Amino acid sequence: MKNTIIKQMDENAVKIDDIKIFANILKEKGTVIFPTETVYGIGANALDVESAKKIYEAKGRPSDNPLICHIGKKNQVYDIAREVDEKSKALIEEFWPGPLTIILKKKEHVPSITTGGLDTVAIRMPKNNIANALLRESNIVVAAPSANISGRPSPTTPEHVISEMDGRVDGIIVSKICDVGLESTVIDMTLDIPTILRPGKITLTDLKKILKNVIIDPAILKKEENLIAKAPGMKYTHYSPNAKITIIRKKDKNIDEKIKELILNQEQNLNIAIMCMEDDYKKYQNLNSLVFNLGKNLDEVAKNLFYTLKKLDDNKVDLAYCPYFEGEEISIAIMNRLLKASGYRVLES
Ligand code: TXA
Ligand code: MG
Repeated sequence: MKNTIIKQMDENAVKIDDIKIFANILKEKGTVIFPTETVYGIGANALDVESAKKIYEAKGRPSDNPLICHIGKKNQVYDIAREVDEKSKALIEEFWPGPLTIILKKKEHVPSITTGGLDTVAIRMPKNNIANALLRESNIVVAAPSANISGRPSPTTPEHVISEMDGRVDGIIVSKICDVGLESTVIDMTLDIPTILRPGKITLTDLKKILKNVIIDPAILKKEENLIAKAPGMKYTHYSPNAKITIIRKKDKNIDEKIKELILNQEQNLNIAIMCMEDDYKKYQNLNSLVFNLGKNLDEVAKNLFYTLKKLDDNKVDLAYCPYFEGEEISIAIMNRLLKASGYRVLES
């Protein structure tokens, strides 16, 4: 067990003396958890092998999974990428700082522990004053995967981070619930056609405004083993709470009727939960189940999803039901996480 330094900070009133404490930990090859606009990240010096190893240890994660390098200034991209083509420059101008990770050819000195042995490196500049101050003050390129134990939901709240990671890292900065709630969109700019490897808040439509030609990796909403996931992170079990989640997709009946029917046929002693949008909340009352409100719109569903998955565990839920969120845009990112969390368990109504 490490003696973790924990500090609460306000994103709108960042105190540089507080930031220095954590910047020094990074300079001394330690690990620091910090908030970003997407999820909390567990950071260490990306260009130092000893530091990067500590991230894998804290997460209990296989070391062939590459990490995202976080920078505090746009021009740091040239310190770690071998070439930055015109299209990537246009993406940087449009979307940084923000929830977009860009994959580029790496420079020699980026160690293979950070890139999972690949010839490419994933880079992003987060949009969060605390993250930005930490990155600038330390002047370090910081590798930072989501701050969860491998396989568990990514943390988006202070309580989640502290309950899971206190004692596993040198420092933790907490602030509030993360704005986006899902990890950054990952786009590979080294392929012939720029390809979204992980969907997020920045959608295909957003990217099409800058890139003429861009596609989504077909592996994103499918479980099929024969589709080789290009982002190695996609091959591991992810986001799994202890509860068994079933996603209900509309076919013949209304989704709420199907969920009610399923609940009535379950054994009495199981602890059952339903996750739904605010408008549907009332439909599920009096079912002898917990009902979790994911929000009024899809952006709120994204923001609340991981937090709600964590609440399933906190409430010792055995079975949880959730509707399939149809559509494009942010729904694709939501469904990508929800399908993994459910082990691709989808029932038609
Ligand atoms: O929002 C985020 O991106 C958060 C916050 C903390 O910034 N970070 C995060 O990192 O989600 P992580 O390590 O959990 O996810 C990294 C993803 C994985 O799916 C990984 O396989 C992919 O990016 N990735 C990283 N480097 C890659 C590379 N060179 N080629 C392909 N995929 C890569
Ligand atoms: Mg992760």
